[in-house]
Amino acid sequence: MIMKTFLSLTLAAASLSVSANENSPIRVSTDDTEMVMTVSGNGNLVHNYYGKKFKNVLPYNTKEYREQPDNGAGYAPQAFPAYGGYVMISPALKLIHGDGSHTTHLKYVSHSVTQPEEGVTCTEVKLKDPLYDIELTLIYTAYGKENVITQSARLTNNEGSRLTVENLASTYLPLHADSYYLTHFHGVWATEMQLVEEQLQPGIKSIESKRGVQATQTANPAFLLSLNGPAREDAGEVYGGALAWSGNYKLTFEQDECGRMNVVGGVNDFASTYYLDNGESLTTPEMVWTFSNRGRGQVSRNLHDWIRHHSLSHSDMERPVVLNSWEGAYMDFDEKTITDMIDDAAKIGVEMFVLDDGWFGNGEYARNTDHSGLGDWQVNTQKLPRGIDYLAKHAVKKGLKFGIWIEPEMVNPKSRLAETHPEWIVKSGNRDKLQIRQQWILDLTNPEVQDFIVKTFDDVMGMSRDISYIKWDANRFVTDFGSDYLPADRQSHFWIDYTKGLYSVYDRIRQKHPDVMIQLCSSGGARLDMGALKYHDEFWTSDNTNSLDRIRIQNSTNLFYPAIATASHVSTSPNHQTGMTAPLKYRFDVAMAGRLGLELQPKHLNEEEWAFAQKAIEAYKKIRPIVQFGDLYRLKNPEDGTGWASHQYVSKDGKEAVFFAYSLKYHGRTTFFQTRLKGLDPDKQYRITELNKKDWPSFYGDGKVFPGDYLMNEGISLGIGNNFDSTVLHIEEI
Ligand code: DGJ
Repeated sequence: MIMKTFLSLTLAAASLSVSANENSPIRVSTDDTEMVMTVSGNGNLVHNYYGKKFKNVLPYNTKEYREQPDNGAGYAPQAFPAYGGYVMISPALKLIHGDGSHTTHLKYVSHSVTQPEEGVTCTEVKLKDPLYDIELTLIYTAYGKENVITQSARLTNNEGSRLTVENLASTYLPLHADSYYLTHFHGVWATEMQLVEEQLQPGIKSIESKRGVQATQTANPAFLLSLNGPAREDAGEVYGGALAWSGNYKLTFEQDECGRMNVVGGVNDFASTYYLDNGESLTTPEMVWTFSNRGRGQVSRNLHDWIRHHSLSHSDMERPVVLNSWEGAYMDFDEKTITDMIDDAAKIGVEMFVLDDGWFGNGEYARNTDHSGLGDWQVNTQKLPRGIDYLAKHAVKKGLKFGIWIEPEMVNPKSRLAETHPEWIVKSGNRDKLQIRQQWILDLTNPEVQDFIVKTFDDVMGMSRDISYIKWDANRFVTDFGSDYLPADRQSHFWIDYTKGLYSVYDRIRQKHPDVMIQLCSSGGARLDMGALKYHDEFWTSDNTNSLDRIRIQNSTNLFYPAIATASHVSTSPNHQTGMTAPLKYRFDVAMAGRLGLELQPKHLNEEEWAFAQKAIEAYKKIRPIVQFGDLYRLKNPEDGTGWASHQYVSKDGKEAVFFAYSLKYHGRTTFFQTRLKGLDPDKQYRITELNKKDWPSFYGDGKVFPGDYLMNEGISLGIGNNFDSTVLHIEEI
């Protein structure tokens, strides 16, 4: 049988019992949460519950309970509603069968439970249509400690003829409450992850992307859904969801006539009809779910833990402090510019130098502007006569690691690649190909293109044994989609097959180059999702390096994605994207809350700035394990209009914490900042040291010892309140 998978799910051999019993509920449990499904009298798989874990034996297996809501109108929500029967909501599955029928009825067949690894269980539930020979398997993977449940679906066609898949979602979740509040994100280049929270009304709200590449620039496939009121930090029932897919997606929130919220999420069905021949299967990407009845703070901590344990490369490795050459040199450099930057980086305490765009292409196709060169991944011998190896060795000699930028999915019309392989470029039949940033996209549905990208990666890695980091960029989205490789009647496979092609490339690269660090970049955060992230070590959060904007972008991003992966660079002032001027201390205080880096020409720092930067980098190295591996507690929300932002990371053993506070506006001469700390032990004593002090400390207790219960109940106050005031505190148990 040919398997067509969106995403391959690797599961180890079964090690738990395998059982199928219609009369007892199917429980998918983590340490604190669970999902419950039952089989109703008519054979439907009913979704009963997702929330706090039950202590006692469930009453769901009584006949009364099972049959009462599953009345003739079909109100009991199915676990995976297919269009057909009484299903009137946006369905999770919509098929056209070989005989032209548009309806599907799914009935429970069996289920099994395996344990792919310690602390993880995988429950597979098989459903079938009594009339048509299709099989749908729902796959629930429960991560005990992290309280995360992922869901995906696999559809197999055994009908004997072609099956038309109009929609196959990853997840369906029905909820029932008095009101529902959705937190979601919109944006554009350099303004990613702008948070909106709204009360959902009867009807449909959708979040989606049709861009194929850069799918997350205008909206991220991650959301919070809070019941009975807006999401609070430490109280209330909040669901966190994130789709692990880097292509077109759609998340639909439909409040139906019963007041129920029906969440359906997965690959966008827009122009994406998929055909399965007999024997073929299609597996969806995973939807990542978590739930907390203690507010959105716990939702974030669950997802951060899950990403660090299951969905990030090298997640137990401390991330180095980076100097990236982009804003410091752009494409205007020669060998000396770069070796000087490396020398300065070494002196200031940086641990990794990354050579950004502009190092490749030759002659008329030299990459001196963004008009040419993409696709021609040979070193520019005029700019860098001794090649990449010379630069990488220079970095290593100075005690730094070396990284390099690529954008391998893209091609400039002005390149040798575009001339030699016009058939590799995404296009809609004979229509002219639109350019964005003077570039086109390579057609990753084509295995030859996939091979080319893998080879590009290999060749670049082959330029020096001292390359230990790759920045993978993608600077445009898909317009006028279409493929010379796909047959005319399979053009609608483009969206799914492109992303599958990308994942297959990532897989091959990861197998060949398991040690290299890879940054996920797409004009900043335009490809930030759990599907791509697992192949990477970190992401470039936004091309907007302006500290004031970064506070909000990073706050939203870190609702889901952890600080260890949040590349956050100190750039020059006035800021290149916004023109805003901000003190160096503020810029460092913001960047140190993520994976710290620099995005500037060190030569442009004056003596005082240099000394400050050197000390701040040194301080970061001390607090880095807490920021990168600790638990995040948000204290003041930059979105609440008060003009403050503050949060804290606490080490897993609770012995150390680091605290950040930022003033977002001028607060007047009399108001001051006060907040309670979180996550400490009330019975322990803590010494607090202020970091990155300018002239005097902003915390009255700098260097003093405080009891944990004082810090968590009375809290601390700070003498900050002007524009661009900020404080960083290191808190250590004594
Ligand atoms: C967009 C990225 O986000 C920037 O950091 C930089 O790498 C440029 N592309 C280079 O073209």
